[in-house]
Amino acid sequence: MLKDKFGREIHDLRISVTDRCNFSCVYCKSADPRNYFPHDDLLSWEEFLRVARVMAGLGIRKVRVTGGEPLLRPGIIEFIASLRRIAGLEDLAITTNGYLLPEKARDLAAAGAPRVTVSLDSMDATKFARITRTPRSFEKVMAGIDAALDAGLAPVKVNIVLVRGFNDDEIVEFARLGRRRHIMVRFIEFMPLDADHNWKRELVVTAKEIVDAINPVFPLEEIPRHSPSETALRYRFVDGAGEIGIIAPVSIPFCGQCSRIRLTADGKIRTCLFSMREHDVRHLVRNGATDKDIQQFMLGVVQQKEPGHRINEPDFVQPDRTMVYIGG
Ligand code: GTP
Ligand code: 5AD
Ligand code: SF4
Repeated sequence: MLKDKFGREIHDLRISVTDRCNFSCVYCKSADPRNYFPHDDLLSWEEFLRVARVMAGLGIRKVRVTGGEPLLRPGIIEFIASLRRIAGLEDLAITTNGYLLPEKARDLAAAGAPRVTVSLDSMDATKFARITRTPRSFEKVMAGIDAALDAGLAPVKVNIVLVRGFNDDEIVEFARLGRRRHIMVRFIEFMPLDADHNWKRELVVTAKEIVDAINPVFPLEEIPRHSPSETALRYRFVDGAGEIGIIAPVSIPFCGQCSRIRLTADGKIRTCLFSMREHDVRHLVRNGATDKDIQQFMLGVVQQKEPGHRINEPDFVQPDRTMVYIGG
């Protein structure tokens, strides 16, 4: 079992399979064209699978596949199908911007129907194009959400990163979307991981503000988390029309219950979203390490997991690796 020195059990692995993305969301990726990792630096599908298998042997039960945009990498469907076959993995999910879902949702369902989370930060096409810095992104993502629902991928969740002045006027509209479409919408507080370094505390729309915006229109009641390490606070609509989630790492940090570890596309282990130090597993897998060696390495790495993020400390420093290279 993977247990860190603070007693937290690590059972969630998040794998970023590519640093490429076809969007440039303002809260995540830079609009500047920049060099992606050279292809040889990326772990191959076999290498990802090997690490995932070893980690499943250490008690990892849940894998979330992220990016960049994971559906852009050729071979993703077969990868999902292979992950599905790993003994011990109970939960498989994918976080996508949704753009390619119209063409891939059915194949994903056939590959083992991972849970799908789609990022959608505005219900207004013009505004969404401004946030993603990509024309016609809204129409494609909405079609992607429909395709996921039609393919029977369930539950479909929608992630909304709220940035004050950009989309905080749409909170109630998103609640309405969730109620109407049986989608679980989850509002996320903006974190200082954006490539443009524009994060400011004033831009964070807090959990309290979100509840205060929705409650007068659609009364809410807080309900317990499914598990203590779940990121989202849960609120049900009092009239029974479903629930929403609020992920509030800034105003209500949840690091004390963290169960997550991350593997980047270039084969680095990150023990926290905000780690200042990474652990190179690619070097191991490419230099003859046995599964046992990788296990020992992981047991040691987990001991170095940080107690939590330091966003609220006066000397907080944003890590060099921004969200598009971590995957959320
Ligand atoms: P479920 O498996 O459906 O519960 O999803 P999840 O809790 O894994 O959440 P998801 O992958 O949808 O993550 C949503 C967002 O929450 C991410 O994009 C991040 O912005 C944020 N998030 C996820 N994990 C962490 C974490 O460990 N720490 C912090 N600070 N934020 C996180
Ligand atoms: N703060 C919070 N969440 C972010 N995401 C990307 N950048 C940020 C940020 N700066 C989340 C988005 C997306 C996921 C991949 O990461 O919700 O769904
Ligand atoms: Fe875990 Fe780091 Fe996220 Fe805190 S910020 S919950 S320690 S990954």
